[in-house]
Amino acid sequence: MTPRSVERIILKLRDEIRRHDELYYLQENPEISDREYDELIEKLRELETKHPKLISSDSPTQRVAGRPAEGFPEFVHRVPMLSLDNSYNIDELRAFDERCRKLAGGESPEYVAELKIDGLSLSVHYEEGVFVRGVTRGDGFRGEDVTSNVRTIRSIPLKLNAKAASIAREIEVRGECYLGLRIFERINNQREDAGEPRFANPRNAASGTMRQLDPSITARRRLGMFAYDVFAGQRKAFATHWDALNWAERAGFHVNENRALCKSIDEVIEFCNGMEARRDNLGYEIDGVVVKVNSTALQERFGATGKAPRWAIAYKYAARQATTRVNDIIVQVGRTGALTPVAMLEPVQLSGVTVSRSTLHNEDEIERLGLKIGDHVLIERGGDVIPKVVKVIESKRTGKEKKFRMPTTCPVCGGNVSRPEGEAVSRCIAADCSAQLIGRLLHFASRRAMRIEGLGFALAEQLIEKKMVRDVADIYTVTLNDLVSLERMAKKSASNVLSQIEESKTRDLWHLIYGLGVRHVGERTAGILARHFGSLERLGAATVEELDDIHEIGLTMAESIHDWFADSGNKELCQRLTAAGVHTEIAEHSSRQTDQRLAGKVFVITGTLPGMTRDEARQLIDASGGRVTGSVSKKTDFVLAGADPGSKLDKANELGVPVIDETEFKKMLG
Ligand code: IVH
Repeated sequence: MTPRSVERIILKLRDEIRRHDELYYLQENPEISDREYDELIEKLRELETKHPKLISSDSPTQRVAGRPAEGFPEFVHRVPMLSLDNSYNIDELRAFDERCRKLAGGESPEYVAELKIDGLSLSVHYEEGVFVRGVTRGDGFRGEDVTSNVRTIRSIPLKLNAKAASIAREIEVRGECYLGLRIFERINNQREDAGEPRFANPRNAASGTMRQLDPSITARRRLGMFAYDVFAGQRKAFATHWDALNWAERAGFHVNENRALCKSIDEVIEFCNGMEARRDNLGYEIDGVVVKVNSTALQERFGATGKAPRWAIAYKYAARQATTRVNDIIVQVGRTGALTPVAMLEPVQLSGVTVSRSTLHNEDEIERLGLKIGDHVLIERGGDVIPKVVKVIESKRTGKEKKFRMPTTCPVCGGNVSRPEGEAVSRCIAADCSAQLIGRLLHFASRRAMRIEGLGFALAEQLIEKKMVRDVADIYTVTLNDLVSLERMAKKSASNVLSQIEESKTRDLWHLIYGLGVRHVGERTAGILARHFGSLERLGAATVEELDDIHEIGLTMAESIHDWFADSGNKELCQRLTAAGVHTEIAEHSSRQTDQRLAGKVFVITGTLPGMTRDEARQLIDASGGRVTGSVSKKTDFVLAGADPGSKLDKANELGVPVIDETEFKKMLG
């Protein structure tokens, strides 16, 4: 290869990686898996190692520094990083507005309202447009130099584009580093698997991540940063804050899109209320709104008191954490027989709702928390998730707290309880446990399954108690007379329930598969199984190998599905459902499926197809017995390539794997 062509490949790779960074962070819609992303980085690194002259400090490979640092050196901020005064209600916001108007000599200043991201603040420095340093806030005057870690944050540009960089030789951008909720959950699960304690909230996790001495750990954890301030040298870079935010966006930073330029405090209040309603759907934690005077000249005139500026205020939302007492721990029995301990709490207000109970999951969780009945605890409500106990407040112990013991018999039916080795969950193993039957019935009738409206807890409980129903197939044998004989069941509602039951027979196959409640089979898996097999009968006849061969179905799932259908009771249940007239086939599926035109063929899809999305192509392949994998190897039979196919195409050519386009693909499907 000529040096020119190497350079071209390197530049192309860098562009591609940047494009994936953007898809991942800005659009939250990645096109490739993490592994494929790492492969791209690896390829670039290899080329750069062979041609070190072509390494530039803005290359994505420079994001991950090699060696762990030894502690962090101190860095004195050129301009102190102040904190903010807080306000907790609208009156306090109005009082802030009045102070500002007075300071501004009577005129009403413009405000910028933006989200107060719950993370840790960070200052990043550029010289001649190139990233040189990243510093934590520290005490506001001195921070820690965490440059190697900051390099790994993909939402922070390593190089500013030339036009943006031209505003000053030395530029400092400040912003809030945060961890998205999905990543936070993933990290905590991994920590739990590794026997490490969970982080209490995303902010602690972000801050722990930033202080990692090994930058490769920071890199894996995928921190993000929203920029909120820009300095040229030691002065604010723009005449207004709004301009600064827009510049930051053009320069390549992420600036939170939820921001507003407000002419009056009323507009600010509207923004605050609107965002509070949307707070649970953002994908990251916020703890309020920051309101800033827009004009830099006014900001300078207002100045600061002690540690907070007079030109800005935080409007804090109601806390999502609260402390309360665990009055009792009760045990619920679910449809799988799982015994779930639930903390009965002294009712407490948490972000607008009264919380009085919180699941404790299992015995291990209680052990991990070190929780006893009577303990005071910190509870937390994140997103739309049910509140959970974060930790025990040991300093509030009186010595009267009682240890919780998992019952050895089922609290509902008195049957035996077993906890298999290596599992966290204890289960009631009685086949006729009414709690399990009720749970199975409610699951079968739930909206995502067969959607039988009117079949709620009270009815399910009575049907089982009166022995009218022993399993989900019995639902279809219930008569009008049965129903009217029950308590609180008038003729009209009885006939409504009956017609709902009748209607449920025509639900799509995946609803039925999901409704059966096979362990490990969620809605998504049910959809995959329905598409792949097309009928309950064919699914029931599948071997573990056949199931395991389906992309996205792992061995545990395959075994669980196979075991469920191998059980003679379940076999009979399926036969009775079919006999009752429940639809157990996908109407037009059978002919397509029996074709099995692509049986056993392994595909990789890359690039943009002209006439269908990649997901549609994947579904067609699945439905014809083929399989789609993520990366090209010797085992790949075909690479289905569209526009801008990227490195997978190179790999296919290298290995001699046939490459087809959409037209050829359609021909294959007939
Ligand atoms: S402005 C002098 N804007 O909140 C201005 N801060 O309680 C100081 N924060 O230390 C910061 N989102 O870590 C600003 N949009 C935002 C923010 C924000 C989060 C944090 C920041 C600061 C703390 C003050």
